[in-house]
Amino acid sequence: MHQMWGGRFSAAPEESFSQLNRSLPVDHRLWPQDIRGSKAWVRALAQAGILTPGEEQMLRDGLDRVARRLADGAGTGAPDEDVHTLVERLLYEEIGDLAGKLHTGRSRNDQVATDLRLWCLTALEQVDRELAGLGAALVAQAEKGMDLILPGYTHGQQAQPVRWAYVLLAHAWPLVRDRERLADAARRTAVLPLGSGALAGSGVPVDRDLLREELGFRAISPNALDATGERDFVVEIVFALALLLMHVSRLAGELVTYSSTEFGFVRLADGYCTGSSLMPQKRNPDVFELARVKVARTLGDLVGLLTALKGLPAGYSKDLQEDKAFLFDAVDTVLLTLPAVRGGVATMEPVAERMNAALQRGLLATDLADGLVAQGVPFREAHVLVGRLVQEAERLRVDLAAVPPEAARAIHGSLPALLASLGSFAESVERRATPGGSARASVLAQLSELAAAFRA
Ligand code: ARG
Repeated sequence: MHQMWGGRFSAAPEESFSQLNRSLPVDHRLWPQDIRGSKAWVRALAQAGILTPGEEQMLRDGLDRVARRLADGAGTGAPDEDVHTLVERLLYEEIGDLAGKLHTGRSRNDQVATDLRLWCLTALEQVDRELAGLGAALVAQAEKGMDLILPGYTHGQQAQPVRWAYVLLAHAWPLVRDRERLADAARRTAVLPLGSGALAGSGVPVDRDLLREELGFRAISPNALDATGERDFVVEIVFALALLLMHVSRLAGELVTYSSTEFGFVRLADGYCTGSSLMPQKRNPDVFELARVKVARTLGDLVGLLTALKGLPAGYSKDLQEDKAFLFDAVDTVLLTLPAVRGGVATMEPVAERMNAALQRGLLATDLADGLVAQGVPFREAHVLVGRLVQEAERLRVDLAAVPPEAARAIHGSLPALLASLGSFAESVERRATPGGSARASVLAQLSELAAAFRA
């Protein structure tokens, strides 16, 4: 069995420990990054005079052949300790003893940190693309929902009327912030650890700037002990993923409510629902229920990761091997969830009649108070007066607009006229015309800004 260490041992690892120690089942997916990092390392070694040009060529070609074998599945079910050992063993198989020169001046500590950062940078791009896709689906729905008015809710209570487009965009803006956060995390992830050795720097005078350029990093790590032992970039990424799935969860939760039998504001496409094995009439919004729960996993990943890191001294400890399980689970969860949510959003249909039917006149109570204010009544007083009108409507069990004029006049002389001229819900929406409000101009401005932000 190929091993990267062992000269000073007289006994092989016990089977149970070997099982505990192995990370290949988890880190196997890092092989493309491991090959890429190793090829750059070979170049740096040659530049430093450690390898002849001929050796450099043979090692690089050998690594390419290993990559082809791994792409063909050579790593599946392999017995090796980890991905680095696997690649090295296959390299020995390809080019013989020269493979033994690859690890000169390098440690698995700076190697794995480099591999992981490379992997993260690709993953961040994938997540960003998926987020933009979901954002674009929300924008497309919003464009169709410009003139649909529905109750806007706070505390789960009808508050003021709003546009359907506006509600959808309220869930699109968080995705813009998520993308900014991912880009920011990428900036700090693109710092190169390679050339740090095990903890104290490399004994070979490699040109780290050359490595940085070859591997597409932005900067080189300033302290080898820190670089080999810190996983802040993983924490930041997992946090950004948890937060974005929390946003998806809120969107999904709202859509579960809006697609419920009682609300019925949206109808999901058949392709995103399931039926019941028992109740023939059921049509369940599973896509959004699952989208609502997935954040639970990534929150677990985040807490697990931070717990794993807590109390570790600077430098590498084997505890760090566990980082990948958390990271990969979080990324996999996000990449599994986003395409389905995007599809569910893109194909759902708003139901205008149900939105209309849900609009109660109470949604215009603020407009009434504003009307009294326009006549010089202090807002605090207007609020109390309209509150009395609402109480009267509740007592009579009628809509706010159906309170008899005499009863309204008894509360305030202007109320009957204001009630009569309240106008439509759409007019009420237009009265909230501050930038960022639900009025048409603001929603149109948001739409064009978001459409540009999510353009592929
Ligand atoms: N499999 C290890 C990990 O993922 C690679 C680094 C091992 N380093 C060491 N000193 N044993 O962390």
